[in-house]
Order: sequence, then structure tokens, then C-alpha cells
Amino acid sequence: MAELTVIVLLVVVFSTTTFAVRSVSISKCCNADEMLVPDQSDFKCVKNVSSSWHLRIFVLKNQTFTTFSTLPAHWKIVHNNKPNCVGLRRLSYEALFNFPVSNGSFLSVEYNTIFHPNQYCLDYTSALVCMHPEHITRVTVKKCCGENAIFSQTNQSCVLFNSESYKIDVGPNKTLVAGFPRCKENKHQPVARYHESELFSNGSLLANGKMLLPPGNFCLEHIFEHSALSPSVISCSEYVLPYVSQSETHDFRFTIYPIGLALSAVFLAATLAAGSLLPASHHVLHWRCQTNHVVCLLVGDVLLCITHLSGRIEYGPCFAIGESILENF
Ligand SMILES: *[C@@H]1O[C@H](CO)[C@@H](O)[C@H](O)[C@H]1NC(C)=O
Ligand SMILES: *[C@@H]1O[C@H](CO)[C@@H](O)[C@H](O)[C@H]1NC(C)=O
Ligand SMILES: *[C@@H]1O[C@H](CO)[C@@H](O)[C@H](O)[C@H]1NC(C)=O
Ligand SMILES: *[C@@H]1O[C@H](CO)[C@@H](O)[C@H](O)[C@H]1NC(C)=O
Ligand SMILES: *[C@@H]1O[C@H](CO)[C@@H](O)[C@H](O)[C@H]1NC(C)=O
Ligand SMILES: *[C@@H]1O[C@H](CO)[C@@H](O)[C@H](O)[C@H]1NC(C)=O
Repeated sequence: MAELTVIVLLVVVFSTTTFAVRSVSISKCCNADEMLVPDQSDFKCVKNVSSSWHLRIFVLKNQTFTTFSTLPAHWKIVHNNKPNCVGLRRLSYEALFNFPVSNGSFLSVEYNTIFHPNQYCLDYTSALVCMHPEHITRVTVKKCCGENAIFSQTNQSCVLFNSESYKIDVGPNKTLVAGFPRCKENKHQPVARYHESELFSNGSLLANGKMLLPPGNFCLEHIFEHSALSPSVISCSEYVLPYVSQSETHDFRFTIYPIGLALSAVFLAATLAAGSLLPASHHVLHWRCQTNHVVCLLVGDVLLCITHLSGRIEYGPCFAIGESILENF
């Protein structure tokens, strides 16, 4: 999904690019036999003779990502050379939100910025960039699909959608960056409406008055399937589950409901069985009405019971079950 997202965003950046293969000087942050690794809040070079290039570069010529095991021939590599600036920030290549472009620039979809060859250095798994001061000092809030796109829940991907009414207001002293929270199963779901949540000055968000999500664990986005113009808070089940199961286990009604519904279903079934044993009454209008009524109640009860017992249900089945319950009652 991340790749699809990035391609959607790139269409906007590179759609009018003309190019020529020109020799360009690229810095590698550490020596060839060293690797750039995170070190607490900073970074350092460590010896690692087994490290090798496995770099995904956006190739302007055919507009796709290609994996390079040796760097492009027109790149002249200068080893152990970091850009000379304050505010050097390490960006990981993970999920393709930050990557080099074949003409020698480095694109961060995450920060919506293009870095020129003298503003960054590459390494095997991450790059160092001269970050704009605004991005360092200000609190960042993630807009899942970046500028010019919104989220499609059924497709689990971003779709291009450029409209002024789909802007998101996060208040003063905060900057919007692109990206999703990292989910274990790579499945993202809306967990609350933004206008019903509170965004703190430190970038944390209190969703629905009970779920406190730290800055990295959510992103804001409009949902293609929701016609309302209010953005949603998108997160992963592992970050919101603690809050959901907590409130459910504290309420004993959720244990009583399925039991009652199951009992009710058993006796409705018994009623049907008893009715079918009296063939003499089968042609009576009253009997037919009663049978239809009981069948509807039975199906409705069984479906309600299923929703109570299964806890979390996927979007598709959930919609089908909800619609059937409505039809049956
Ligand atoms: C690479 O292409 C991008 C998009 O056209 C452009 O903004 C950037 O300046 C180019 N980089 C170089 C080093 O020419
Ligand atoms: C050295 O690099 C290899 C390949 O990139 C990696 O699997 C390994 O963990 C690295 N070792 C150290 C000590 O960082
Ligand atoms: C794009 O170009 C690169 C080299 O320039 C090549 O290795 C790759 O196969 C090409 N990809 C496609 C889809 O044509
Ligand atoms: C979802 O994917 C299907 C099939 O790829 C496509 O036809 C449809 O237009 C997509 N929906 C959205 C909202 O992008
Ligand atoms: C934003 O930052 C400015 C300068 O640091 C400060 O004066 C102002 O109170 C801040 N606004 C909010 C809403 O925090
Ligand atoms: C952010 O601020 C809120 C409200 O002031 C607080 O509850 C929360 O612990 C803070 N989060 C972090 C990560 O500092």
C-alpha cells in the first residue's frame, strides 16, 4: 500500500519533468565499509564489511522504482561526506516515504521536500538531510496521504483527490507531514472523527475522549467512502484495542446480551417446530403471518448474537449483517 501511495503522490511532483543523464556528485555519509546507524537521538558510522547497496531509486526515465545493487553509473560517489548544515536529520528508506531520484535529488514524501545533492548524504539503509528549521522546531502531525490525496477505506490505499475543501486544519505551530502509522498487519482503520477529538500542542491526540494516541500512532485523513467533510483519525487496531476491550469488559451487559439472544433464538425455533407439527392450521392466514414473523425474529436474533460474540468485524461482513438485521426487524 505504501508504494501505491507514493506513486500517487509522485504523479504530482514529476508529471512535467524533462531530464537528461548528467553526471552528478553524491555523498555517502560514511566510508564504504561503514554503515550509518541510529544512536539514541543521533546517528553514527559503524564498521560493517558485509553491508551492500540495495537501494530503491525512482527512475525518472520510466517513472518507476528500480532496485540498484550498484549505484547508477552517472553518480560520482564521495565517501565519508556529510552535508554542512545545522539540523541534520536521519530519514529511513522504510515504506518508500523517503528515497533518492535517479537525477541525484532526494525526495521526502514524508516532509514534502526535494533535497539537492549538496543538502543530503546517502547511506545503506537511511540518509541524512538538511532539514528545514520549521520541520525541526515545530510539532508535526501526519496527514495520511499527503497533499492532493485522500484515503479509500475499501481499497486500503490513497486516491488522488485535489480539492480545497479537503484541507485539514491542525492549528498554529504545527506542520502537516505525510505518512501512516506503522501497523503490525498493515491495515489502517478510522477510529474516530477529528472534530470529536482533541489535538494537543505536543502532537498527541485524545480521540473520542478516551484514546490517547501519541504523534506516531495516528494520521488524519478524509475518507473517500464518507461523504462528510470532516476528516477521520486513522490508526491501527493494536493502538486502540486496549481502550476498546477495556470499556467492553467493564460492562456486564455485553456478556448478558448474547446469552439472552441465544435463548430467545432457541425458543423461536421451538415455536416454528411446534407450528410445523400442526398441518391442519397451515392454510390459516393467521398461522402464516405468525410463521413469517417468527422466522424474521429468529434470523435477526441470531445475527445480533453473532455480532455480540465476534467482537470486531470487517467492513464488508459488518455492513451485510447490519443491513440484514435492519431488514429482519
Ligand atoms: C531532479 O528532478 C526534480 C524534478 O524535476 C528537480 O526538482 C530537481 O532539481 C532535479 N535534480 C537535479 C539534481 O537536477
Ligand atoms: C551489517 O550489515 C548487514 C547487511 O546490511 C546486516 O544484516 C547486519 O546486521 C550488519 N551488522 C551490524 C553489526 O550492524
Ligand atoms: C526502468 O529503467 C531501469 C534502468 O534505467 C531498468 O533497470 C528497469 O528495468 C526499467 N523498468 C521498467 C519497468 O521498464
Ligand atoms: C478501488 O479499486 C478498484 C479496483 O482496483 C477500482 O476499480 C476502484 O476505482 C478503486 N476505488 C477507489 C475509490 O479508488
Ligand atoms: C505558537 O508559538 C508562538 C511562538 O513560539 C507562541 O507565542 C504562541 O503562543 C504559540 N501558539 C499556540 C497556540 O501554542
Ligand atoms: C501530550 O499532552 C497531553 C495533554 O497535555 C498529555 O496527556 C500527554 O501525556 C502528552 N504526551 C506526550 C507524549 O508528551
